[in-house]
Amino acid sequence: MTDNVLEFHNIFKTFGVSKTRIDSLKNINLIIESKSLNLILGSSGTGKSTLLNIASLIDTPTNGEVLIKNINTNKLSDSEKSRIRRDEIGVIYQRDNLFPYLNILENVMVPLVGDDKLKAVKLLKIVGLEDVSKFPNEISIMDQQRVAFSRALINNPSLLLADEPTGELNSEDAEELLNLIRDVGGKCGVLIASNNSDLSEYCDNTFYLKDGTLTRK
Ligand SMILES: Nc1ncnc2c1ncn2[C@@H]1O[C@H](COP(=O)(O)OP(=O)(O)OP(=O)(O)O)[C@@H](O)[C@H]1O
Ligand SMILES: [Mg+2]
Repeated sequence: MTDNVLEFHNIFKTFGVSKTRIDSLKNINLIIESKSLNLILGSSGTGKSTLLNIASLIDTPTNGEVLIKNINTNKLSDSEKSRIRRDEIGVIYQRDNLFPYLNILENVMVPLVGDDKLKAVKLLKIVGLEDVSKFPNEISIMDQQRVAFSRALINNPSLLLADEPTGELNSEDAEELLNLIRDVGGKCGVLIASNNSDLSEYCDNTFYLKDGTLTRK
């Protein structure tokens, strides 16, 4: 048994056929260990979201194997994948993470297994939010990302995936979010995709994705 929370073995992803064919990921090998903060840098259209969608099991590779906590997910049923997604994986996106008609607390409790309201309140307090009855449109984008981050962590995942989480933030807020991810999400293996190379200094490992090919810094 390893301490790896995510492994990609020879992952390929192709969209379309013949003339419309796009090879979005080409033979990706990647290991994310528990308690490590990893960054994938790449410009637009290089396959970052494709890679994270496969890691979060919402998409499947054309070829190759995805292991979550040493479990090969390729042959799992949809319900087994859903269980892994719920119990082991937290995800944050660039924006529109939240349900607009639910307040902050309710948003964080959406994926919660059980009804531990206090756990959600405590987590929100740790990330700096006290007034949990506000709605997403009443708070700043940075605070919306704090809520999204809390929701991603609410079931104590092993793997935290963040697709361009700082894309809408100024550099000061981006720094604060990265520090939160490191300090509060530190028990997870974390994989962040971004086109912002400034984030590299906060991370243990940096990878580059270019035209579907991954290299290590
Ligand atoms: N569902 C899809 N159908 C067809 N092509 C797709 C699909 N999803 C992604 N692609 C293509 O795969 C390539 C990689 O896209 P992807 O969204 O993964 O890039 P990205 O690095 O996340 O870009 P961005 O920084 O703009 O978010 C692009 O050429 C894109 O057009
Ligand atoms: Mg993307």
